[in-house]
Amino acid sequence: MAKKALLTIEGRDPIELPILSGSTGPDVIDVSKLTAQGYFTYDPGFVSTASCDSAITYIDGDAGTLLHRGYPIEQLAENSDFLEMCYLLLYGELPTADEKAQFDYTISHHTMVHEQIRVFFNGFRRDAHPMAIMIGVVGALSAFYHDSLDIADERHRNVSAMRLIAKMPTLAAMCYKYSLGQPFMYPRNDLNYAENFLYMMFGVPCETYEVNPIIARAMDRIFMLHADHEQNASTSTVRLAGSTGANPFACIASGIAALWGPSHGGANEAVLNMLDEIGDVSRVSEFVKRAKDKDDPFRLMGFGHRVYKNYDPRARVMKQTCDEVLDQLGVNNDPQLQLAMELEKIALEDPYFVEKKLYPNVDFYSGIILKAIGIPVSMFTVMFATGRTPGWIAHWNEMISGSYKIGRPRQLYTGENQRDFKPMKDR
Ligand code: SDX
Repeated sequence: MAKKALLTIEGRDPIELPILSGSTGPDVIDVSKLTAQGYFTYDPGFVSTASCDSAITYIDGDAGTLLHRGYPIEQLAENSDFLEMCYLLLYGELPTADEKAQFDYTISHHTMVHEQIRVFFNGFRRDAHPMAIMIGVVGALSAFYHDSLDIADERHRNVSAMRLIAKMPTLAAMCYKYSLGQPFMYPRNDLNYAENFLYMMFGVPCETYEVNPIIARAMDRIFMLHADHEQNASTSTVRLAGSTGANPFACIASGIAALWGPSHGGANEAVLNMLDEIGDVSRVSEFVKRAKDKDDPFRLMGFGHRVYKNYDPRARVMKQTCDEVLDQLGVNNDPQLQLAMELEKIALEDPYFVEKKLYPNVDFYSGIILKAIGIPVSMFTVMFATGRTPGWIAHWNEMISGSYKIGRPRQLYTGENQRDFKPMKDR
């Protein structure tokens, strides 16, 4: 028997609304026929709104669990690697050994960018924020692939997915090299995804560069922890852009733009800036006090989450990776890590944070590892975007390969009612 909700409005017959159930998680009330009844739903920030159905990622915010195609993030972080995660998100199952080898080969053979892209960088100032460059360059990629932009063609969708996953690290490293005035490093097919990224970031043509395997493994895990997170702001942006039929490169560029905000992916950069501003453990309480002050716009960056009302499982893995990397690099007493741990301790014991269920999120510790690896703060959100690309693409492909409508929300209009034009002489 299909479940139904009855909406009772004064003076009207009750409106029956279907209740739909997923494989797990909250049921949803299908309100799509409300417009015909003369109503819109109203939910700024989409706090109570499911925008679509999806089979890619599931988050239980109360339990603090995160599943990618049913597999817990902790198990994937421990046993898998980023390209296997990309395969899983895109195709729904873990690859066989042959499938994995083929996927790795395909990705590594799409890592180069057109030589004209190198010229594209010259239009930017050397001190341009790398996220500004990434939005421009990733969007511009569509200008180089006129032969495969038919989104109705599965082969075109797939090769675009390969190109985007493969080229993000190349473009990210080019942003960094451009800021230094150093030559771009061409990708190497003998290195794995994370090794290749570190080589393109820190290698120079004048000498050989040995990738540190500990750092490469940590980098790969950081990409994994950012790979997907259901209908977050940037993924919802990619879906909305994709619903118009825009090409995948334009859609991913829109996702990068949305991610840049400090409330979203820009938080990892904001956490490090906040730790710098706090400066010393003795000032932690002052900043926690500010974060609780309604009249102070300051918030503890890296804390809180729309969905998690428990510890973000990615933050736990990130902290463990942080300890491993700093320990193996012999940076055990990193002052910013000490400061972050003290801040976390005080915040988690503070009634304000306990009552509002504010816990560290994925961005709280990621910046500390990225900094230990040698990545500049301005590049932190670019790292997030690189990791999130398979998630964005998987959601875009899930929507485009199924049935979808152009996204077009309505509004509660609060402006002027109709009035006649007033000539200048009467104003
Ligand atoms: C990411 O959606 C995703 O899945 C995102 C993400 C992903 O993988 O895609 O997980 C990545 O974006 C993680 C979040 C990174 N952002 C930050 O760390 C910035 C700091 N956090 C906050 O800005 C905030 O917590 C948000 C934006 C993350 C969530 O905001 P919500 O869901 O709109 O919650 P809210 O602003 O309504 O906060 C609820 C209450 C408020 O107090 P009241 O109005 O109820 O009195 O908690 C307070 C807020 O003032 N609050 C904080 C706080 N976060 C929320 N107070 C102090 N410090 C904070 N960090």
